[in-house]
Amino acid sequence: MRVLHACSELFPLLKTGGLADVIGSLPGAQIAAGADVRLLLPGFPALLAGIPDTVIVTEVNTFAGRVTLRYGTYNNVGVYLIDAPHLYDRSGSPYHDSSQLDYGDNYKRFGLLGWIACELACGIDFYWQAEVVHGHDWHAGLAGAYLATKGYPARFVFTVHNLAYQGLFSPHHLDELQLPWHFMQPEGLEFYGQISYLKAGLYYAHKITAVSPTYAQEITRPEFGFGMEHLLSQRRDWGKLEGILNGVDYNTWSPQKDALLPQSYHAKKLSGKAENKAQLQSATGLSITPDVPLFCVVSRLSDQKGLDLLLEALPTLLDEGCQLMLLGSGDADLQHAYLAMAERHPQQIAVKIGYDENLAHRIIGAADVIVIPSRFEPCGLTQLYGLKYGTLPLVRHTGGLADTVVDCSLENLADKTATGFVFRDCQASELSNAMRRVFALWAEPVKWKRVQRQAMSMDFSWDIAAKKYLQMYSQLE
Ligand code: ADP
Ligand code: GLC
Repeated sequence: MRVLHACSELFPLLKTGGLADVIGSLPGAQIAAGADVRLLLPGFPALLAGIPDTVIVTEVNTFAGRVTLRYGTYNNVGVYLIDAPHLYDRSGSPYHDSSQLDYGDNYKRFGLLGWIACELACGIDFYWQAEVVHGHDWHAGLAGAYLATKGYPARFVFTVHNLAYQGLFSPHHLDELQLPWHFMQPEGLEFYGQISYLKAGLYYAHKITAVSPTYAQEITRPEFGFGMEHLLSQRRDWGKLEGILNGVDYNTWSPQKDALLPQSYHAKKLSGKAENKAQLQSATGLSITPDVPLFCVVSRLSDQKGLDLLLEALPTLLDEGCQLMLLGSGDADLQHAYLAMAERHPQQIAVKIGYDENLAHRIIGAADVIVIPSRFEPCGLTQLYGLKYGTLPLVRHTGGLADTVVDCSLENLADKTATGFVFRDCQASELSNAMRRVFALWAEPVKWKRVQRQAMSMDFSWDIAAKKYLQMYSQLE
């Protein structure tokens, strides 16, 4: 089966979040499972530079100007790149300028991604024609609409990584995008008077998937649906919405193999982890001690991630003498608040504002607990990394966090299934209570180690998800 993933990020060349990790791993796992899989991405500078040996597939006039379609391979996966400097040759984020303002021509930049995806199902590449187009998030949503205009030359699958980002644009662009006006209605891609690329992806898909089973249920409810809940609950009732949990690339994320860690370690010999902790404490000015748990955060600082709750719960952690290392960037108020806390408590709190892949590994390889108090979390990957590194996740019970972390309740401890700490309500007091349970388990090192080993034995490899996707493609009607 020939599958084309249309998307906007690819680890390690271009990444703003977990989407890149998924696109960096899933296609390879699908190929290993027997499918013929290729990627399509906009020709962002980091991608053209990272995949230099491309051939020209074709040059084509489009609604967004004349563009060159290139093809190369990256990590043994075929990749089409839309080479269009007038649209994509901009440094930094793929989505916005350095002042965080979305580019004014995003409707064209990502509309073109959908348009070319459709053309790859129609034979623009003489040698390879997609049978399934698999779009990821709003960036690729218009692929569904273009395929629909042509009577679906390929089946269309749309995966929701995050409903919070919708790709809303003025209806005035519809003619320019070469889409028919009858698509501009509630039974179509219209969303409160605007064109929604996200809705196009959802509405025109043969199948919608979400990146975890719990998130697939949550998004059918108003609290999580961002206005799409009606459409999504209808699709669920029609059997067209499914949750498929993301996986982890254990070649990149496992403490035995991780060359970015000062010391590698494994479940039977955790001494390397203790050394990593001491090194991180020393490098960041935290007091150097093995005796208190070191909590960590590696995250975008956005409302989704609930890090305002952690800020509020920090006194609980500080009173107990514990430590926190935070790596993240985003919301300016949160950045300032965490930096101010670090200044006030330099031996207990260390903060690095920014995006640093190497440091993320060092932190997760050093800390004892990784905190993810998200308001919603479609899947979440850092808790999966935490599990593999014996860095016990402390998470809110939502989305993929609920599907992957087993709370240290008395029953679960007795059953030896516990792998972390889970709290329910989105309140700082609940998070504080969960922290207290961390302290209680920490006071019993034998039990702590047992939970660590259980966490490290969990397997969220991509081959499981890859097979589920392939099975789903084969059942598309
Ligand atoms: P999301 O995609 O919502 O940001 P995920 O947990 O799915 O959340 O994925 C986040 C990815 O980005 C992980 O690979 C995580 O390690 C990485 N990451 C997040 N923030 C940073 C940061 N400041 N520095 C380095 N890596 C980060
Ligand atoms: C999104 C979600 C995150 C998920 C990632 C990859 O960015 O916020 O929960 O893990 O996509 O699917």
